[in-house]
Amino acid sequence: MAEPVSTALIGYGYWGPNLARNLYQNKAARLSVICDSAADRLADISRLYPGVRTANDAAAVFADPAIEAVVISTPVRTHYALCKAALTQGKHVLVEKPIALSSAEAGDLIALAAQNGRTLMVGHTFEYNPAVLKIKDLVDKDEIGQVYYVYSNRVNLGRVQRDVNVLWSIAPHDISILLYLLGAMPLEVSARGATYLSEGIEDVVFVTLVFPNNVLAHVHASWLDPGKVRRMTVVGSRKMVVYDDVDSEAKIKIYDKGVYRKGDPIYGEFQFRLHSGDIYIPKIDMSEPLQVECAHFLECVRTGQRPRSDGESGRRVVRVLEAAQESLDQGGVPVRVGEG
Ligand SMILES: NC(=O)c1ccc[n+]([C@@H]2O[C@H](COP(=O)([O-])OP(=O)(O)OC[C@H]3O[C@@H](n4cnc5c(N)ncnc54)[C@H](O)[C@@H]3O)[C@@H](O)[C@H]2O)c1
Repeated sequence: MAEPVSTALIGYGYWGPNLARNLYQNKAARLSVICDSAADRLADISRLYPGVRTANDAAAVFADPAIEAVVISTPVRTHYALCKAALTQGKHVLVEKPIALSSAEAGDLIALAAQNGRTLMVGHTFEYNPAVLKIKDLVDKDEIGQVYYVYSNRVNLGRVQRDVNVLWSIAPHDISILLYLLGAMPLEVSARGATYLSEGIEDVVFVTLVFPNNVLAHVHASWLDPGKVRRMTVVGSRKMVVYDDVDSEAKIKIYDKGVYRKGDPIYGEFQFRLHSGDIYIPKIDMSEPLQVECAHFLECVRTGQRPRSDGESGRRVVRVLEAAQESLDQGGVPVRVGEG
């Protein structure tokens, strides 16, 4: 077996502890350091993770030649500078989503990783979620037919952010799922949102995305909502799929339902026929997505394989966020996306 990857975790706030647990438990990693600029965040580390050092200065961690890889779980505004510093010091990097605050910054990081021959991966957790993989399989194997439209609701009360709006904080999940499932960039994005709690920071957004082949998608993200909803619906020409991440029994339901036309479309002599068959709940092995994600990163570091959610995938998500932000700033006008 290959030597474990000597790894440092930067940022031990809300999400960092989940990464620490997964890295510590993974035999392919040796979690050497946990670093947070707020010293009080690190008080419990020696009890929880014996043998793991703590640090407050990320630059000193990056300068340590014994560290091969870093996992960055700090606020979004710090991602670019921290990733750049780590890659410059020759570290492999797994950075939380979104990779950066602009696609130009994401491009810089991609170039730097390529120059230094290092792995750059983004924590698009849902691309490692077995339920999402199942839907991807259904789409790719044409089981649901042509995808007509997709919509998702990711709402809850709480985890209100002060430095990024709900588009940049929560919607990256839905956007990364959409790009992954559809295997394409949207042509056009429009977004409306509203600000209630902090000036200039949207608490709710409604984003509409137009993909090639007339596929329409919609994302509703909010941290100001009465209940936790994590649901995505995919409507296809043959079947329809509902993915409810909060439902532990039936994360995915496949509805054998559809509408088809019968008759001669040329003379307009056709009828719509409804088909309503069984509802099927596939068995899904729900291993923890973050565990799969961490294992994938460590394997990519060791083998040089390109990660599923590589820097390019991070840049594509940021390109869509930028276009949505531009639309949001202009009251919802449609904004062309391009390849990013
Ligand atoms: N994949 C997911 O499902 C998921 C869920 C939540 C958050 N996230 C992502 O995780 C990242 C962190 O989010 P969070 O909610 O944990 O934020 P947080 O504010 O709770 O924690 C961030 C921590 O980073 C520390 N920090 C800030 N700057 C630092 C620096 N320069 N060096 C070292 N430490 C520094 C802070 O002291 C804080 O403890 C964000 O990118 C967020 O989008 C991902």
